[in-house]
Amino acid sequence: MRAIVQDGYGDPERALRLGEHDRPEARGGEVLVRVAASSVNPADRMVSAGRPYVLRAVFGLSRPRRRVPGKDVAGTVERVGPGVTRFSPGDEVYGELPGGAYAEYAVAGQDLLAHKPTALGFTEAAAVPLAGVTALQGIRDAGGVRPDRPGLRVLVNGASGGVGTFAVQIAKAFGAHVTAVCGAHARDLVLSIGADEALDRTREDPTGDGRAYDVVFDLAGDRPPRSYRRALSPEGVYVAATGRPGGAVLGPLPFLGRVVLSSLGPGPRMRVFATKQSPDDLAELAQLIDDGKVAPVIEAEYPLAQTAEALTTQARGHRRGKTVVKVATP
Ligand SMILES: NC(=O)c1ccc[n+]([C@@H]2O[C@H](COP(=O)([O-])OP(=O)(O)OC[C@H]3O[C@@H](n4cnc5c(N)ncnc54)[C@H](OP(=O)(O)O)[C@@H]3O)[C@@H](O)[C@H]2O)c1
Repeated sequence: MRAIVQDGYGDPERALRLGEHDRPEARGGEVLVRVAASSVNPADRMVSAGRPYVLRAVFGLSRPRRRVPGKDVAGTVERVGPGVTRFSPGDEVYGELPGGAYAEYAVAGQDLLAHKPTALGFTEAAAVPLAGVTALQGIRDAGGVRPDRPGLRVLVNGASGGVGTFAVQIAKAFGAHVTAVCGAHARDLVLSIGADEALDRTREDPTGDGRAYDVVFDLAGDRPPRSYRRALSPEGVYVAATGRPGGAVLGPLPFLGRVVLSSLGPGPRMRVFATKQSPDDLAELAQLIDDGKVAPVIEAEYPLAQTAEALTTQARGHRRGKTVVKVATP
């Protein structure tokens, strides 16, 4: 099958190439998916670069253990392995894999997949899993924003990117008042998807204008944690999903360590957040999408052969939502 293969670490143009790879087999509890589309996440750039280096303990020391990268997947179930109860051949599914999605076929444990939103085609559905579940869990679970707690004041820092565009919509769908921090280029976008107000990150300091938020969902990590602590209400919570800028070796870990330290003692809560793969949350997202409350924002589409270019463009910043990789040829 055609696949993006990776035999070493480096910039996407050096590390990733279109090649041939054996088609995977679905073993016990696994599903073979004919991939229609995938998308680009910062995690895919980290896998390509093998940076921060600390992650090579997980990815593989000198080369990635998984030769085919790619996390988000949307496609059709081709075959199911023994013991699969949740899916049948022909089902249209989506989900987040540990890797292998930049290919014509991918295998997934059945617990990593859900039925894709019926309102979306495959290309749009592929933009949802990692970013959408991160936004849902960050806003709902870590932030405590839920429909039964309407009116919370939520700040989304990094609102124009893949996760941020979902976070703004989910927080609004759950009844929050949303302030979106983004670049001037994305102001109209974040307002159009439901933000109540937009702050220009190059000209306005969301932590220094005297306002207090119940939840800060930080997707940029551009200010010291203590700054955000000052911008929280007494019962508020800061949720750190990232820690940029990070060094080559440890990446966001020093920043996240400072978040943990600043959480000690009384006052607003400071939390480090990591997404967990969840078929239930994929199903909840599908429902929000099918109900018309959330929709993926897609900035660009690339064919599989140009996956490296898609990763490079995404890494340049100034994003407006997600970048999708179309795998199936019409
Ligand atoms: N903890 C977890 O489990 C988890 C899961 C998924 C993602 N993440 C992390 O969350 C972050 C966002 O992911 P993503 O998929 O949304 O990435 P993305 O699509 O690349 O978007 C990043 C966003 O951050 C904004 N940004 C960059 N520097 C900023 C700054 N100084 N102030 C405010 N905004 C800034 C960008 O705005 P511009 O367009 O203006 O550059 C862009 O909107 C990444 O660091 C990713 O690694 C963590």
